[in-house]
Amino acid sequence: MVDIQRRAVVITGASSGIGEGFAHEFARRGNDLVLVARRAAALETIARTLRNAHDVHIDVIACDLSDLDAAANLPTALLERGVTASGLINSAGFGTAGEFIAEDPNRITSEILLNVGALTLLTRLLLPQLVATRGVIVQVSSNASHQPLPGMAVYAATKAYVTSFTEALWREMKGSGVRVLALCPGPTATEFFAVAGSETFKVGAVAEVKNVIDGAFRHLARSQAGPVLTVGKRNQLQGVLSRTSPRRLRLAVAARLVAEAS
Ligand SMILES: NC(=O)c1ccc[n+]([C@@H]2O[C@H](COP(=O)([O-])OP(=O)(O)OC[C@H]3O[C@@H](n4cnc5c(N)ncnc54)[C@H](OP(=O)(O)O)[C@@H]3O)[C@@H](O)[C@H]2O)c1
Repeated sequence: MVDIQRRAVVITGASSGIGEGFAHEFARRGNDLVLVARRAAALETIARTLRNAHDVHIDVIACDLSDLDAAANLPTALLERGVTASGLINSAGFGTAGEFIAEDPNRITSEILLNVGALTLLTRLLLPQLVATRGVIVQVSSNASHQPLPGMAVYAATKAYVTSFTEALWREMKGSGVRVLALCPGPTATEFFAVAGSETFKVGAVAEVKNVIDGAFRHLARSQAGPVLTVGKRNQLQGVLSRTSPRRLRLAVAARLVAEAS
């Protein structure tokens, strides 16, 4: 039995990019928020702006979610603040551009722990609260989840996990009142590519964060919303083609697109 306190939407990766975009839109809609990422100063600046603009309550939790002990501590941190999660937006994540053989083993471990481990753990730990509040879960996956990506192999594999996990959860949550979405953007104008180590590693057109967020809210408002939203017509077509193509062909096409972009 969950004792519902003050409801708030928990957003990981809220210090920049897509997570910050979700923070602005949820605050504009009058939701209290809990913003999570490593950069405390960036989170505090965003929190101050949103409090002033929308008169909502915003908590900031600065932590490194690739440390799963820190992720596991989040429900306690919410309890201490008198918050019950009415939304979980898992946007914290990063990729690494380059051949697998050249990747830093420690960075690979952090990437998997953050993109897969923390996302799964937070979803499990907060799910009872989200069921009690009939809340919303958005897992920020990627267009890269629809096919393996030579040149970004670990990243695409982590996102394939996120989409697969979220689809199954969507089905399990049917009838619970909890809305579940695997959001799959294509290249989007954020800090992602700088962090990944290649600004040029962008396949196709680059979307603005606002388009991604608007698409997600439009999708969630539908009564029959499906489990996955691939953002943008071109990305949707690419996803369908790669899912229906022979494996060797889709790998050759993905490798070619990446080579041309990098
Ligand atoms: N941009 C794209 O083209 C694109 C496309 C498809 C999917 N995505 C996905 O979208 C999500 C958001 O990325 P973005 O594009 O918005 O990039 P971004 O601007 O780099 O944002 C990434 C966020 O994750 C946080 N983060 C990174 N490592 C963390 C850690 N160890 N612990 C806690 N927070 C951490 C960062 O904050 P701190 O540095 O302050 O910790 C930042 O707030 C990611 O999951 C990414 O895979 C992006």
